[in-house]
Amino acid sequence: MGLVLGIESSCDETAAALVTSDRTILAQRIASQDAEHAPYGGVVPEIAARAHAERLAPMIDAVLKDAGKTLADCDAIAATAGPGLIGGVMVGLVSAKALAMASETPLIAVNHLEGHALSPRLSDPDLGFPYLLLLVSGGHCQILLVEGVGNYRRLATTIDDALGEAFDKSAKVLGLGYPGGPAVERLAKEGDAANVPLPRPLLGSKEPHFSFAGLKSAVLRAKDAGIHSNADIAASFQQAALDCVLDRLAFSADRIDPVPALVVAGGVAANAAIRAGLEEFAQTRGMRFVAPPPSLCTDNAAMIAWAGCERLALDGFRPDPLDIAAKPRWPLDPDAEPARGAGVKA
Ligand code: KG4
Ligand code: ZN
Repeated sequence: MGLVLGIESSCDETAAALVTSDRTILAQRIASQDAEHAPYGGVVPEIAARAHAERLAPMIDAVLKDAGKTLADCDAIAATAGPGLIGGVMVGLVSAKALAMASETPLIAVNHLEGHALSPRLSDPDLGFPYLLLLVSGGHCQILLVEGVGNYRRLATTIDDALGEAFDKSAKVLGLGYPGGPAVERLAKEGDAANVPLPRPLLGSKEPHFSFAGLKSAVLRAKDAGIHSNADIAASFQQAALDCVLDRLAFSADRIDPVPALVVAGGVAANAAIRAGLEEFAQTRGMRFVAPPPSLCTDNAAMIAWAGCERLALDGFRPDPLDIAAKPRWPLDPDAEPARGAGVKA
C-alpha cells in the first residue's frame, strides 16, 4: 500500500495531507487565508505567497505528527505544480522538491485541476472510468470526459468568467464579502428564484461552451434597480447559473457515447442547490451521480495526495524531475481548441 504526502498552495488555501492508496486520509490540515484577503475583496497574490511561505513547513510537520509518520514512511511527495497563482505554487513545489531531495522520496508534480478531477474517486471507491465531469471552481468551468488517469478530453469551457468567479462577483455586488460562493448559497435559501428575471447566457447555443459575464452584469443591474431584495437576487442568480450548467451539460452529454456516471468537482460543487440540480439531471439520464463531500470540493491537499496515489499506481510510474517548473497555466487537455470568442481561459 502506498502513502503519499500532498501539498496544495495554488490559491488562498495552504494545505497538507497524508493519504494512502486504499483511500484513507490519515491526516490533513488546511489554513484558509480568508481574513488576509477579505479587506481587498479577492485574493492578493503577493499576500497569498507570503502566507503560504510562513505556514507550509510547520503544517507539513504537524500533519506527519498527526498521523505518527515520518517522511521516510512516504512513497511519494505530491505537490500542486500549477495552474494557479505562481508565487504560491512555487512555495509549495519548492518545498516538495526540498523534502523529496532530502529524504530521497519520489516527487510527483500534480496539476491542480487533475486533483479536482480525480477527487471523486477518493471518496467513492466504485467510481471507475470513464465519467462525465463538471469541474467548477473559482478559476475554471469545464466539462470533461475523464477516460483514465492523465486522460482528459475537454468538451466545454467558459468563454469569460468561471462559475465560482460569477458567484464571487455577484456576492460582492450584494455586499456579501469574500469568499462569495457560500454566502450567496446561504442568502439564496431565503429568497425566491422566480422573482428576478435574469438572463441565461448561451442557453441553447450550438457551441458547447459557458458564459457567465452577462449574468454577473445582470445581477449588478438588478441590484442597482433597487426593487428586489438581496435574497431574491441571490436565489435568482443561483437558479440562472444552474439552468445554464444543466443546458450545457445536456449539450455535451448528447454528443458523446453514454457514460455511466456524472461527476462534479471543484469549489462550486460544495453548493447544495447545484448538487441537487445535477443529481436530478443524472437521474433523468440514467446516470449515477457522484459528488465528493464539500470538504473535498474546495481546495485541499487530500485531493493532491490522492492524484499522487493514482499516478503512483500507474504501470511504468516515473517520478517527476526535481527541476520541473511551476506552471501558471496548465490545461488538462492540451489538445483542446481554444473556445471561439474566448479570452485567455483554457
Ligand atoms: O476549487 P476552489 O476551492 O478553488 C479554485 O481552484 O478556484 O473553488 C473556489 C470557488 C470560489 O469561487 C468559491 O466562491 C466557490 O468555489 N464556492 C462556492 C461554494 N463554496 C465555494 N460557490 C457556490 N456555492 C458554494 N457553497
Ligand atoms: Zn481548486
